[in-house]
Amino acid sequence: MAVNLDDVKEALRKVEDPIFEKPLGALGTLLGVELEEGRVRAKIRISSPSEDVRKTIQNRVEAALQPLGVDFVELDVEVSVPTREATSEDPLPDVRNVILVMSGKGGVGKSTVATNLALALRRLGTRVGLLDADIYGPSLPTMLGIEGHPTSKDGKRIQPLQRFGIKLMSIGFLLEDPKQAIVWRGPMLHGALQQFVTDVDWGGLDYLIIDSPPGTGDVALTLAQKLRLTGAIIVTTPQEVALQDVYKSVSMCQKLNVPILGVVENMSHFIDSAGVKHELFGSGGGAKIAEFAGAPLFGQVPIATEVREWGDQGTPVVQAAPASAAGVAFASIADTLAEQVAKIHFERTGGEEAPEGEGPKRLRILR
Ligand SMILES: Nc1ncnc2c1ncn2[C@@H]1O[C@H](COP(=O)(O)OP(=O)(O)OP(=O)(O)O)[C@@H](O)[C@H]1O
Ligand SMILES: [Mg+2]
Repeated sequence: MAVNLDDVKEALRKVEDPIFEKPLGALGTLLGVELEEGRVRAKIRISSPSEDVRKTIQNRVEAALQPLGVDFVELDVEVSVPTREATSEDPLPDVRNVILVMSGKGGVGKSTVATNLALALRRLGTRVGLLDADIYGPSLPTMLGIEGHPTSKDGKRIQPLQRFGIKLMSIGFLLEDPKQAIVWRGPMLHGALQQFVTDVDWGGLDYLIIDSPPGTGDVALTLAQKLRLTGAIIVTTPQEVALQDVYKSVSMCQKLNVPILGVVENMSHFIDSAGVKHELFGSGGGAKIAEFAGAPLFGQVPIATEVREWGDQGTPVVQAAPASAAGVAFASIADTLAEQVAKIHFERTGGEEAPEGEGPKRLRILR
């Protein structure tokens, strides 16, 4: 049976986008279809770089074309990450998403989550920046094994440092001795943070991840005054005693109109050498916070020595040991985060297209 181009197009138009669950034809994201000697070449735009979304769209395309007798499909997937709402005064017009990692509680793993998620998003092929807004105790220089002082090309804007393909900024890069203690007064904190946003040459980014210090939410407040955040990720641990401060950060976000994208439960459980899970700190913290926040629980990261060891050595676990349980957990959370960002955008705009630009990444899936 000869394959007909019109039939192929018709079948592809009906394929549903995995995030929006609407047909590609209605969304306008089927960008091109070619047929040559029984081989179909299709170009589709998706709004999340997540592996899951890519695999799902590929499976759906194959399933749609199989009944037509097509047995070779070349899929050209263009990822266009959606953009947050930005006003004309926005200091970061080329940064599509600004995501704050916060908790209220100290030591729950905010910096670990921020760095590993940034790297996992980078590994999906997106453009990522990471801002260490913890000016009392910057940890990104250690966690990413990077020191040095940023330079400026024009004497006005600061060039971020780079590591593992991510743009980075931390107060740690500006100190003579990163271990020195600094006494900051409120207005100085405010000013330093503003400078990190306005005076750093972040360029075009799909995601700017911001690691915040523990505490009341000064960073969220300053940022929310300055720009429209895509949203916040709340980090918690499973135990009950840790939750009170975390609830406060959720309320803070709600007051500031910062959407809560999702919750990450860190140090959830320990997996022993026999593969048995032990809930060292109890369970349920992540689910409780997620329910309180009305947001999804993105995932649970096990407590694992390699997380701390790799963090101390300057190569986060996602990069150093992506196949480890913690590495897999962070990658899956990054996938879910990217999907959630796309979904929130869709709910806000009703499916308006992400802008074309230098951002979209191509991925060829051959079968
Ligand atoms: N899943 C994990 N398994 C093992 N160790 C972890 C895990 N997550 C974080 N850690 C370790 O716990 C310590 C605290 O983590 P981290 O610095 O990320 O927390 P934080 O919330 O940013 O702390 P602070 O409030 O001081 O900024 C670090 O030594 C880190 O390596
Ligand atoms: Mg920290």
